[in-house]
Amino acid sequence: MPPRVVLGVGAGIAAYKCCELLRLLTESGFRVRVVPTPDALRFVGEATWAALSGEPVTTDAWTDAWQVPHVRIGQSADLVVVAPATADLLARAAAGMADDLLTSTLLTATCPVLFAPAMHTEMWQHPATRANVSVLRSRGTVVLEPAAGRLTGADSGPGRLPEPEEIFAVAVRLLAGAPRDLAGRRVLISAGGTREEIDPVRFIGNWSTGTQGYALARAAVARGAEATVVAANVALPDPGGAKVLRVVSACEMRDAVLDAAAGADAVVMAAAVADYRPEARSAAKIKKAGQPPEPLRLTENPDILAELAALRHQQRGRQQRAHPEPGHPQVLVGFAAETDTSADAARAKLARKGCDLLVVNPVGGGLGFGTPDNEAAVYAADGTVTPVPRGPKEVLADAVWDLVAARLS
Ligand code: CTP
Repeated sequence: MPPRVVLGVGAGIAAYKCCELLRLLTESGFRVRVVPTPDALRFVGEATWAALSGEPVTTDAWTDAWQVPHVRIGQSADLVVVAPATADLLARAAAGMADDLLTSTLLTATCPVLFAPAMHTEMWQHPATRANVSVLRSRGTVVLEPAAGRLTGADSGPGRLPEPEEIFAVAVRLLAGAPRDLAGRRVLISAGGTREEIDPVRFIGNWSTGTQGYALARAAVARGAEATVVAANVALPDPGGAKVLRVVSACEMRDAVLDAAAGADAVVMAAAVADYRPEARSAAKIKKAGQPPEPLRLTENPDILAELAALRHQQRGRQQRAHPEPGHPQVLVGFAAETDTSADAARAKLARKGCDLLVVNPVGGGLGFGTPDNEAAVYAADGTVTPVPRGPKEVLADAVWDLVAARLS
């Protein structure tokens, strides 16, 4: 029996993009029942959903009442995907209402549920919607962060439906049984490589592409986390369902990370951060001028991970004085791409950074920057070492979250 997916469609203009999502699901062999809200049919009609899914399409519990659809559809589902999830749908789902076939289905489904919100920025940022999203996430429901960009009309900002391929990727992970052990957790991931400007046309940079950081973000979203990514110069498609903040330099990354880390349950520094930047950036392009150039003078960049560890140390002290039994401390994870992967060097760096886990991965031999695969040894402050054999970066991402989730539980 192919897995049964319910595609709940809310009354938003992004409903048209969900025809593509439906195709991705059916072409993967899933049996998909589309359950639109009555108003969703104003955007995409019943005939489109019926023809694309090969299943009947109803919006109320009264059609075919003898089949008791308001409970049967939810009970027999392996996954419910709600896209676009409007502010109204999120509110009704959070309140446990059952006033149409889709909300009744949500109340009877015991399988994983995935919401892909799409709405105007003001609606997404409204305290009522924030509260509804928190309630849904705390119940283990996966609520994706909307993408930022052009919205209906002239507006732009956070609120766009994540790309259908990204929603599909999370759906597949949930159907494969991804654990939801990060439900209700906030995680922060840095990705990519920083660039330090020399002049308007040149910079000091590195080869990092952000592939591993984005794999970490996708895995965290599928495990139920509210994920924020601070991305330095990443040219990949945004990881669906995560909030992406863009930076260029190490100093910008420091500010963005320290800001977003407040209140995060875990921070994973997967970015390659430049250790040095030019002491001064030339406002004009530096010319050859027919003579050897002045040597480039460098100054040290802040060590973001070490700073996070120091901040945590201070906060722990304050918390312990206020509450002798504080909640779990923030979990800090560093990445180290190394040509010397010796245990001594790894342990020395782990201690120097003051983090809980250091993911040491070799550079060379077809592994490293921009490659689909990775391999690593994860050194923990408690002395344990977890080897992760060569495999897709998604596998290493899940191995890291396994270790983080164990420390958060
Ligand atoms: N890192 C950081 N801030 C820096 C440099 C590195 O937060 N200025 C973080 C990286 O994101 C990574 C970890 O520290 O998670 C290890 O990075 P790495 O470049 O290996 O460490 P360095 O301290 O720069 O050590 P070295 O370059 O001497 O190996």
